[in-house]
Amino acid sequence: MAIADSIVVLTGAGISAESGIATFRGPGGLWEGHRVEDVCTPEALARDPLLVHRFYDARRAALAGVEPNAAHRALARLDAEWPGELLIVTQNVDDLHERAGARRLLHMHGELLSALCASCGARRAWRDDLPPGTACVDCGAPALRPDIVFFGEMPYDMDRIDAALARADIFVSIGTSGAVYPAAGFVQTARWHGAQTLEINLEPSGGSHLFDESRMGAAGKLVPAWVDDMLASISP
Ligand code: APR
Repeated sequence: MAIADSIVVLTGAGISAESGIATFRGPGGLWEGHRVEDVCTPEALARDPLLVHRFYDARRAALAGVEPNAAHRALARLDAEWPGELLIVTQNVDDLHERAGARRLLHMHGELLSALCASCGARRAWRDDLPPGTACVDCGAPALRPDIVFFGEMPYDMDRIDAALARADIFVSIGTSGAVYPAAGFVQTARWHGAQTLEINLEPSGGSHLFDESRMGAAGKLVPAWVDDMLASISP
């Protein structure tokens, strides 16, 4: 393990599961309570803005009741101590990576604690409920919406992610089912550029066969062990 190695880590809902945040797919999953089409598409927002805004208001309010877990904390430790390049790309819209201390982080699907103006495109921190028709602080239009990337919309920071994947020596996917693109395709991009690839997940994901190595188990246990190995590999 050369200390100059560049690492890209992709996280999904599974890394927040042990903090008590429901994943999307699987028993009791978030989408079990709602049809995706009803709450996470531009059409749903246009058809029933109150339902969509309230769905995200409830998830934003729930953040106050959860804490980062050992997996979030381990990635924050890697972020603080890894001398090479590191980028944590999360599909999650919770703030648990930040609260654990991660800095080299981006949210490709948006954030609960942010509001987006559908008129001028401004994104601003938002911690309270966000009723439909709330006026944008920047342009004044009554057009603030949850800053969540809906199905059919372009994820954030794709250029930055693609550049990091092209430079990655190591790509690690944690707690994601590999059901949604473009994130599900990152492992192929990383492999194409010669990265070693590792999957850490409770069960085999849709793309397990694409990884050099798959470790099955809880992120709260396997991620700290992986970070310990990475930091121990830094030659003095
Ligand atoms: N440790 C590790 N993995 C876990 C744990 C855990 N404690 N608990 C669950 N998992 C795994 C599940 O086995 C599953 O493969 O996490 C994965 C969660 O998959 P999804 O619920 O599909 O969540 P995710 O992959 O993040 O979804 C991707 O889809 O709905 C959209 O935009 C939404 O960002 C989301 C995207």
